[in-house]
Amino acid sequence: TGSLGPDCHCFMSTKTESWGSRVGLILAMAGNAVGLGNFLRFPVQAVQNGGGAFMIPYLVSFLLMGIPLLWIEWATGRFGGRFGNHSTPFILHELDPKRAIWKYIGVFGIFTNIAVAAYYCYLESWTLSYVWHSIQGTFVGKSAAEVAGFFGDYVGLTDPTEPVLFWLLCLVMNTWILSRGLSGGVEKVAKIGMPLLILFGVFLAYQGITLKAGENGALFDGTLGLNFLWTPDYSTIWTPKVWLAAAGQIFFTLSVGMGSIQCYASYIKRRDDIALNAMSAGWMNEFVEVVLGGSILIPIAIGYLGIDRVVELTQSGGLGLGFKTLPYLFTQWGPTMGMFAGIAWFGLLFFAGITSSLAMGTPVMAFLQDEFGWKRNPSAWAFGAIILVLGAPTVFFFNEGVFDEYDYWAGTVSLVVFTLLEVILFAWVFGMDKGWAEINHGADLRIPRVYRFIIKYVTPVILLGVFLGSLPAIYEKLTLPASPYVVGARYLLLALYLGIAWAVYLAYQKRRKVTIR
Ligand code: PHE
Repeated sequence: TGSLGPDCHCFMSTKTESWGSRVGLILAMAGNAVGLGNFLRFPVQAVQNGGGAFMIPYLVSFLLMGIPLLWIEWATGRFGGRFGNHSTPFILHELDPKRAIWKYIGVFGIFTNIAVAAYYCYLESWTLSYVWHSIQGTFVGKSAAEVAGFFGDYVGLTDPTEPVLFWLLCLVMNTWILSRGLSGGVEKVAKIGMPLLILFGVFLAYQGITLKAGENGALFDGTLGLNFLWTPDYSTIWTPKVWLAAAGQIFFTLSVGMGSIQCYASYIKRRDDIALNAMSAGWMNEFVEVVLGGSILIPIAIGYLGIDRVVELTQSGGLGLGFKTLPYLFTQWGPTMGMFAGIAWFGLLFFAGITSSLAMGTPVMAFLQDEFGWKRNPSAWAFGAIILVLGAPTVFFFNEGVFDEYDYWAGTVSLVVFTLLEVILFAWVFGMDKGWAEINHGADLRIPRVYRFIIKYVTPVILLGVFLGSLPAIYEKLTLPASPYVVGARYLLLALYLGIAWAVYLAYQKRRKVTIR
């Protein structure tokens, strides 16, 4: 519970934001979670890690790590919001006001959002461009190599005009929507985008599942890919690599460990439910990921190319299947169907992407608004400007590995570190008695009591295991020779973290001054 000591800044917060409706909140939270990760990252992770061998660790990670973390993040967010805190540095601080360190750990919840948004918005802009090219019929009549070459030229900036224009358009769209606020911008986009995404997804999943060998050049039935994914394979189930990949996918897809869930949840009223809402959004994400996300890329690609070739294609990075292979395969369905499939696929990716990148903007804006009294509009444009500056290296040095470097540190490593510290803070420092009460306050769902035990013991132990298990790879990555671009990207990210920490320090000094006066 908050005190009126130096930690209270109740009179500073200019809290005018809130969610318009429960449906809006759930759709926005689902939109946050459902992202490019569901359609591009999940299938590739599954294929790389043996299909059926991946699904068991994946589902176990969801139940024992994903669900607990969702409850923790929704609960801490709503708790922080009660005291006018909407970004993780001061939300975490509220849970343990005595120790200064949590504020600086909370920096992760701003850092990750900025760093992920920096490369994510670029990826998002490709989807927009590919919708355009699907309508234009750019891929019609091209060979597989030519469609792949088109993508190579695109990210290689053979002609930078188009990629840069679409990227800027995407940044401006995000910024503009963010400047309209939560209920007026984010929630509206989610209410339009999510249903459309599901519609497009169902259409493509139907195409994938009913793909017939011999029709339109397909070599196998769509069910070959589905069986590959859904036939449990116990032979590699004890491989740590598979578990790390599965856990990593759960973090990324649910957006836990990012700070964006806490921020969205901090705008929920104290008496409103979080227990059921968190499950609705979380399960909706899983439906979209394993049912829709699992029935498009994998069955279609495997139907045309066979398992071995698709496994081989995913070894050279994840984005090729979605941007090089699929647009070519769609053309096999004839010009009209091919065009619709292209619009549906890239349109779905675009909606998935934008509802996620908006979620990355809100914690940054909330921090500026809470701590420095900025208005909504300048905060949104500040976010846009930061993403422009930090995203530029991923655009201009994509082939130099800057994009992947951002993804590795911000989209993978940071999530594990942050969730581990967060669960310790929640279950052990804030304490499970208060924590459990917080989760259950106003709940419209009776949470099985076993989750109290899971949150206290099981989740932290698994997270510790994932963290320790990742260390060798991190060590190797840091000791292997890296190009100046990659090293530069690392320093840039480090500077970003330190810069935010400095801002948090200033904000804290400011809070103290206000109270002491
Ligand atoms: N969960 C999103 C996805 O699956 C990614 C994301 C990251 C969303 C950070 C919000 C914040 O693509």
